[in-house]
Amino acid sequence: MKSILITGASGGLGSEIAIQAGANGYKVGLIDLNEEKINELQSKIPNSLALPTDVTNEDSVNESIKKFGDTPSALVNCAGIVRFGSLLEQNVQDFKDVIAVNLLSSFIVSCATAKLMEEKGAGNIINISSISGGKHPAIHSGAYAAAKAGLVMLSEQMSLEWGKLGIRVNTVSPGFIDAGMSASHYQDAEERKKREAMVPIQRIGTADDIAKVVMFLLSEDSSYIHGENILVDGGVMNSVLANIGRT
Ligand SMILES: NC(=O)c1ccc[n+]([C@@H]2O[C@H](COP(=O)([O-])OP(=O)(O)OC[C@H]3O[C@@H](n4cnc5c(N)ncnc54)[C@H](O)[C@@H]3O)[C@@H](O)[C@H]2O)c1
Repeated sequence: MKSILITGASGGLGSEIAIQAGANGYKVGLIDLNEEKINELQSKIPNSLALPTDVTNEDSVNESIKKFGDTPSALVNCAGIVRFGSLLEQNVQDFKDVIAVNLLSSFIVSCATAKLMEEKGAGNIINISSISGGKHPAIHSGAYAAAKAGLVMLSEQMSLEWGKLGIRVNTVSPGFIDAGMSASHYQDAEERKKREAMVPIQRIGTADDIAKVVMFLLSEDSSYIHGENILVDGGVMNSVLANIGRT
């Protein structure tokens, strides 16, 4: 039986990924700090297990992986937090927390899982970064962009070291998505319109857009994609020069 661990499983993107993985026949381990929400999700996904976990804590992660029982065939690192603010106003604890949840957690959960996958000689790891981790800094990102950029490189390093163990590793970088931590931006009609206009395909993405790409990366159809960072952003990262104006 195929099995998958998903961190940040109670969130806007993580829950959709969990639902689609369940529908694709995976036994799903729902890893999140939010116990109430993963219990609720467990009742909606037939073969799933709520695993309340702090992904920044190695003991908590190891305990949950043990509770899951099976060697996971796949892992999606989707837990994340934001603490926006200018660098000069950001305090050290906020900076550390953002690095811990968005970057360190992937190291902790991926290594614990890869050790099990290595014994089986097979596995598939997907790290959820962001367009913020790409080439273009955004103001008031605090540690978020640095953490997400670090995650892209960590993912590449995993792919280099673990490909020979039979473990495929890729990154998915969502753009403007109406879900989870960004959903509040799109409740304001003006803000939504402004952002839609910035996206070359003129629409804001959904959790389903991201989950479908994750399903593709989990499938054999993507078996030769390894060490990639796939932008799922409607082309927004290509649009930096769109407003330069030319006559
Ligand atoms: N929503 C977007 O627009 C968007 C865009 C780009 C990237 N992302 C990335 O996608 C991922 C999911 O984002 P989302 O929009 O679903 O956010 P979300 O806030 O809805 O979900 C994040 C989840 O992570 C969990 N979490 C936080 N700290 C944790 C910890 N220490 N241990 C365990 N779980 C913890 C939260 O409880 C929450 O359920 C994040 O990594 C985010 O950075 C989101």
